[in-house]
Amino acid sequence: MLLEFKRVFKSYQIGKNKIPVLQDLDLFVNEGEFVSIMGTSGSGKSTLLHILGGLDTPDEGTYRFNARDMLSLSDEERSWIRGHWLGFVFQTFNLLSELDVVGNVSLPFTYRKTKPEKIASHVEHAIDRVGLLHRKGHRPFELSGGEMQRVAIARALAVNPKMILADEPTGNLDSRNSEHILDLFRELHQTGTSIILVSHDEKVAAVSERILQMEDGCLQ
Ligand SMILES: Nc1ncnc2c1ncn2[C@@H]1O[C@H](COP(=O)(O)OP(=O)(O)OP(=O)(O)O)[C@@H](O)[C@H]1O
Ligand SMILES: [Mg+2]
Repeated sequence: MLLEFKRVFKSYQIGKNKIPVLQDLDLFVNEGEFVSIMGTSGSGKSTLLHILGGLDTPDEGTYRFNARDMLSLSDEERSWIRGHWLGFVFQTFNLLSELDVVGNVSLPFTYRKTKPEKIASHVEHAIDRVGLLHRKGHRPFELSGGEMQRVAIARALAVNPKMILADEPTGNLDSRNSEHILDLFRELHQTGTSIILVSHDEKVAAVSERILQMEDGCLQ
């Protein structure tokens, strides 16, 4: 088991009101599995991904990832896990506008002690995998939306993570670009990477092995 998420509760406090988002949620994911999560807007999908990625903490519950108790780690240990085992892909790409493609894909290595020449070859390989070597000196504003998302995926896969967390990765793309991105996810899955993908779109979710529905704060 790669990921074990048990009896998780999360709510947000807005003034005097407590808004429950995750309510007694369980999730188990095996090594190499490709799972997608669907659900209406506001059902808590992004909140769940943030907790899975160690970017947020639940109010209650347990979370083990790759045999580590994610909720009792120090900030430093959590950053290490994020930098070595996890890759994130967001709907809005989240690229740094002042860096070119190589610079953006190199970012995850900031937290690692990889030798510079090794970084360069990992980065080159990742950019090649998403088919963007001919754009490697371009900055985000010189790229199309589909290309930006491919850069974001190259950044996520450059460190060869155990698991990729993708939040609406095709949400801002047309169908042709979405297809290309989904092919990349299929390929990553075939090479053994675990993937958790959030999407509104049934066609997107259909590329995974297992589709879960977020409903009433739980996964059905
Ligand atoms: N930082 C926050 N403070 C307060 N409430 C929040 C915060 N983040 C999210 N929420 C609320 O929690 C609920 C779940 O939000 P979340 O972003 O997880 O939904 P989602 O399923 O990802 O929605 P979408 O499909 O629109 O992206 C929403 O009602 C939202 O308003
Ligand atoms: Mg969301």
